[in-house]
Amino acid sequence: MTLDTTRLNRERNFFATGQTLWLFGYGSLIWKAEFPFHERRPAHIEGWARRFWQGSHDHRGTPEAPGRVATLIESPGAICQGMAYRIDAEVLGPLDVREKNGYLRERVTLHFAEGDHAEGLIYLATADNAAFLGAAPLDEMAHQIAAAHGPSGANRDYLLHLADALEELGAEDRHVFGLAARVRGITEA
Ligand code: BEZ
Repeated sequence: MTLDTTRLNRERNFFATGQTLWLFGYGSLIWKAEFPFHERRPAHIEGWARRFWQGSHDHRGTPEAPGRVATLIESPGAICQGMAYRIDAEVLGPLDVREKNGYLRERVTLHFAEGDHAEGLIYLATADNAAFLGAAPLDEMAHQIAAAHGPSGANRDYLLHLADALEELGAEDRHVFGLAARVRGITEA
């Protein structure tokens, strides 16, 4: 699949125009929601695990030295906690551009902290996109993240902001917290 998914996402209109929709943030959207929203609520999705398996050539790395950012991997029994935003559909246009590096809009069921649920949207980078890096040992990923920088800043900051935001949410995520501890160890040594 092409690296620039902006055009593909324009066709992926799963929700009626003129109505608001829920967007689930599991990565930078948790701590960096630079878009208008009507409300936001802590939520989780089921059957998905957050993994730093997507390459970032345009935000937290470069084509020569890509960083690693979050995507979701299907994982029966797993729970991924994050933040849901109720937005107008027009908000997705700029987000498609911001997240054009392999992410596609997908539908998902969101479960809110209060017990109710709703259909919503995620941005998902699957293994067939050109920027996908896939699994690697945690130590190896931590060294890559500690070293990578891109136009949006240090890859380290992306990871540590996410770890802090998840901690604030009271979320459990061994993958993210394990990476964050290793990266702190490398960069504070
Ligand atoms: C997010 O949910 O934070 C997100 C992750 C990847 C691309 C866009 C948004």
